[in-house]
Amino acid sequence: MFAGLSAQSPDKIIGLMQAFRADPRTDKVDLGVGVYRAPDGTTPVMRAVKRAEQRLWEEEATKSYTALEGDAGFHAALSGLLLGPPPEDRLAYAATPGGTGAVRQALELLARANASLCVWLPGPTWPNHPAIIDHLGLKRREYRYYDPATQCVDFDAMMADLARIGPDDVVLLHGCCHNPTGADLTLPQWQEITAHLGQTGALPLIDIAYLGFGDGPEADAQGLSHIVATLPEALICMSCSKNFGLYRERTGLLMALSPNLATRDIVQGNLSNLNRQNFAFPPDHGARLVTMVLNDPALRRDWLAELTEMRNRMQSLRGALAEVLRAESRSDRFGFLTAQRGMFSLLGASTPQVAALRETHGIYMIGDSRINIAGLPENDLPRLARAFLDAGL
Ligand code: LMR
Repeated sequence: MFAGLSAQSPDKIIGLMQAFRADPRTDKVDLGVGVYRAPDGTTPVMRAVKRAEQRLWEEEATKSYTALEGDAGFHAALSGLLLGPPPEDRLAYAATPGGTGAVRQALELLARANASLCVWLPGPTWPNHPAIIDHLGLKRREYRYYDPATQCVDFDAMMADLARIGPDDVVLLHGCCHNPTGADLTLPQWQEITAHLGQTGALPLIDIAYLGFGDGPEADAQGLSHIVATLPEALICMSCSKNFGLYRERTGLLMALSPNLATRDIVQGNLSNLNRQNFAFPPDHGARLVTMVLNDPALRRDWLAELTEMRNRMQSLRGALAEVLRAESRSDRFGFLTAQRGMFSLLGASTPQVAALRETHGIYMIGDSRINIAGLPENDLPRLARAFLDAGL
């Protein structure tokens, strides 16, 4: 039977993570997978999460099943964080194994609704987006998003490409902290896109995995909140991996906005059924921790404070790297690093330059030259900057 299988090429992010672990050099630098790192290089459990875990250990009386769509308290707490008071009578939910689980379930829901639809992806995007779409046999197209020459969103090109969408199209948007470019849409741009989606009847699918890493949870949700307040339908995939540091607990939420209660109920039935088909009940441990943190005023305050520390650290690392690169290169061409947001930026290196940095200097980044800002070694930035310039950047 297994003779019918073909070999799979490794996912480029996960493959790099494995290559880094296997590299024996002690001065190697991991700028690959999107995992937050403290100054000592570790990815700690967040303080409020640790305290919630202690409390959960004391108080939890059962490990029996939750609902197929996950716990209603988790839905309310997370959608409340994202949307303020959410439009409850129009939202259906599925708790999922991480943000990836939410993306997968969203696309499966769409495939059920309309198998001939086409998903428009930003160029570039997170590589698992096209991979899941291809796996499900859906059609996809790319819209222009990032202009490497200006290191900014090319909004005119984006809107020119999206001029071709219609009611059988889905437009995937990154809610904030675009992965891999760090180049985000402004609120007026979100408003223009929303109006266009409303006119054409295309559906927005918003992937938000880095809420709070850009300008804070409220500011980061502005664009998608406008969509929810304006359009009849939308899908939102949220991850708690990064902003709650719950990576391996697999904590995510899919939210589906419907035009009315009757449609919401049908969507909810489909989401519960899709969870049942794929894994029955979603993981609950991380979801319960998030619910406790968000519902307890003291834990929530401490979580927000630590999230702010993490965001500020990434922003200051951006500034510090831009500054050493400016000094070493005697040019301002790396100034874009401070204008971008979140965990990632594209350095603009070619594939051979990325390979040379890995082979010669032990500096690991994704093949498109995406760097994880949180992985920058703050005490070793001049060495890093010289290596970038040596490689021809
Ligand atoms: C990333 O982009 O590095 C993260 O979202 C981790 C992953 O699963 O790819």
